[in-house]
Amino acid sequence: MNIGVIGSGTMGSGIAQVAATANCKVHLYDIDPKVLDKAKQALSKILNRLIEKGRMDEEQVSGILSRINFTSDLKHFADADLVIEAIVENPDIKANVFQNVESIVSEECIIASNTSSLSITSLAASLEKPERFLGIHFFNPAPLMKLVEVIPAIQTDETIFEKARNEIDRWGKTTVKVKDTPGFIVNKVARPFYGESLRILEEGLANTSTIDWAMKTYGGFRMGPFELMDFIGNDVNYTVTETVFKAFYYDSRYKPAFTQKRLSEAGYLGRKTGKGYYDYSENAMNPAIDEDEEKGRAIFTRVLVMLVNEAVDTLYLNIADEKDIDLAMTNGVNYPKGLLKWADEIGIDFCVQQLDDLFFEYKEERYRCCPLLRRMQEEDATFF
Ligand code: NAI
Repeated sequence: MNIGVIGSGTMGSGIAQVAATANCKVHLYDIDPKVLDKAKQALSKILNRLIEKGRMDEEQVSGILSRINFTSDLKHFADADLVIEAIVENPDIKANVFQNVESIVSEECIIASNTSSLSITSLAASLEKPERFLGIHFFNPAPLMKLVEVIPAIQTDETIFEKARNEIDRWGKTTVKVKDTPGFIVNKVARPFYGESLRILEEGLANTSTIDWAMKTYGGFRMGPFELMDFIGNDVNYTVTETVFKAFYYDSRYKPAFTQKRLSEAGYLGRKTGKGYYDYSENAMNPAIDEDEEKGRAIFTRVLVMLVNEAVDTLYLNIADEKDIDLAMTNGVNYPKGLLKWADEIGIDFCVQQLDDLFFEYKEERYRCCPLLRRMQEEDATFF
């Protein structure tokens, strides 16, 4: 397929690299020629590093680079079979770009958005032919992260969905089909990893270092929640949380934490500013880990059952099937295990008990057990 990518920022240039590596001819367009030039330089650097590491040879790299046409003229998209948009997260600007694209591409061209937070259905509605539109959501960095969430809008033609999904599969990605709901799978299911950890911190039950240690030691997560929030950026992570909270009509389960809002306001954004939950300067003093096994296991269990509950809710609402929910979390955010498989292992009965205990203690909606989980407990069922 010939591919058009709109926006040569973080995501657009990564997507262009993936497509060109899969032998597609790619037009990479940006409104800002300076960004386009920067993307070109950055891509050569990334690819040359792959040669140094012995992962690619010079011929492969020059092939990839020759297949990407860096352009500030959208007219080149005339021969595109699939266009993926990755520009600023603004619905009006996106709608405007889709109208321009539709006036240039063929009738058969599929058009997609890489949006993280906007409704695919609402974006589709801005097109002349909404049935050709869908969401194709990559993760950052696109060349490294295996997962791609593929989201049909209400208007999307089934054949077009399949055609687009097959193409992304061919690029070597793991695709999952997701219903058009806020946060799709990953950004919805992952909320308690941050939210419940923040709650534990705010209650004063443990410090950041101890919570991170507990999640890594007892859960096998590669990074603890606070390390990960500092890595993602507290501004970015807070915005996702707030967006999901609003989009779910203020369901208190997704209520953002003041702690994160304050860090974001202070400009303590994490690694990128040298300070977040942790201080990254030389000789900085960070909180000491309290290596108490009982406490560590209790922290991990509390966060895990909240994650399980969210994954089960995603299944309950038919947002995706069991297999795709687990694939999304292991491939999109590198969880050590799928959450539904994890629930089977620790026992549905145990998960319900833990959630009921939390609900009894706090009397808060955020701890309500998903009806599907309770039903499964009654039926002594498992997910797999
Ligand atoms: P970015 O800010 O790095 O890049 C956006 C690019 O779009 C800029 O180069 C800008 O010059 C260009 N642009 C803006 N308006 C334009 C227009 N009218 N026409 C052409 N180009 C235009 O943004 P990033 O992070 O790459 O995000 C892009 C999209 O991908 C957003 O919808 C975001 O929600 C989504 N996304 C971002 C992820 C991330 O981790 N950064 C992950 C997954 C999705």
